[in-house]
Amino acid sequence: MSAATKRVGILTGGGDCPGLNAVIRAVGRRSIDRGYDLVGVREGWRGLVDGLFAPLGQREISGILPRGGTIVGTSRTNPFRLEGGVERVLGNVAEQRLDALVAVGGEDTLGVAARLHAECGLPVVGVPKTIDNDLAATDYTFGFDTAVAICTEAIDRLHTTAESHNRVMVVEVMGRHTGWIAVQSGIAGGADVILIPEQPVTVERACAEIRRRHDRGKDFSIVVVSEGYELSYDSGERLAVAQAPAPADEFGHARLGGVGHELGREIESRTGYETRVTVLGHVQRGGSPTPRDRILATRFGLKAADLVDEGRFGRMAALRGDSIVDVSLVEATAELKRVPREWYDVASAFFG
Ligand code: F6P
Repeated sequence: MSAATKRVGILTGGGDCPGLNAVIRAVGRRSIDRGYDLVGVREGWRGLVDGLFAPLGQREISGILPRGGTIVGTSRTNPFRLEGGVERVLGNVAEQRLDALVAVGGEDTLGVAARLHAECGLPVVGVPKTIDNDLAATDYTFGFDTAVAICTEAIDRLHTTAESHNRVMVVEVMGRHTGWIAVQSGIAGGADVILIPEQPVTVERACAEIRRRHDRGKDFSIVVVSEGYELSYDSGERLAVAQAPAPADEFGHARLGGVGHELGREIESRTGYETRVTVLGHVQRGGSPTPRDRILATRFGLKAADLVDEGRFGRMAALRGDSIVDVSLVEATAELKRVPREWYDVASAFFG
């Protein structure tokens, strides 16, 4: 055990995600058992920029395993984009006498952690969270399983109306620039067409699949579209849909959402079939984590606490197969994990 590590900070950054509290509980239980103090950093990196802290003891971390959201709050603050932001982070770490920091987040939050470790020597370890499941160095992130479960249930429910009214039901799901949620919930929900950013299937082909299905005597269809899918046409034209007036966040991401409505209009006008659109939105991130996410988040949290204890900073807990391993934060944030062709082949076997 490292004698130097006495005060451990923990922050959660980016979009909230089911399982964040399970990580906080696991890091806390193991750290407190070792005699360390756990310090909650409020609202992601903003807490270290602005000095927002809350001590976390046994009482604070008790009973939070099944709770959605994050008890320490979150934000999309990027200290590298703020005047003097990095200096303020380092100053607050020193003032709070933090010997280590656990950063729980996706590519943005962990990208900041990787840079602060590499460029400033910040003693930080990472835990991969995101409903999008798009972090390259881990097989799965926690939060994803819950999002897929929510979307699958929604697709099941939308089948009822689709069948009763002979309609095409378009379901828009999150996932940003990858289609993991769309592909897995679409497979689980028996979607008839799935459109994702990685496989730019055209609007014409999607409509052809729906017509083929109707020709076979099925009067309804379920289309799952990922928010990052660009409307693609046989002519080669591509149309990205974002919430136009919304400014990009501090990491430069446009606010996505709305492609479902554009697609629904296209399907109705091209096929003549009555079409309705449901955008699931933040429902996908809400509520209690599934058992699988609680377990993954718990295992990641214990691993992060162990990395802190061993002084192995600049590392991130990761899932490889069924094992929890650690990988470098730099490796983890180098590129997005996109849906490979094999996954899309499974989905498209049931199109039309
Ligand atoms: O990264 C998680 C995620 O839910 C994305 O799927 C989505 O594009 C984005 O966050 C939405 O962000 P916000 O909560 O800021 O609207």
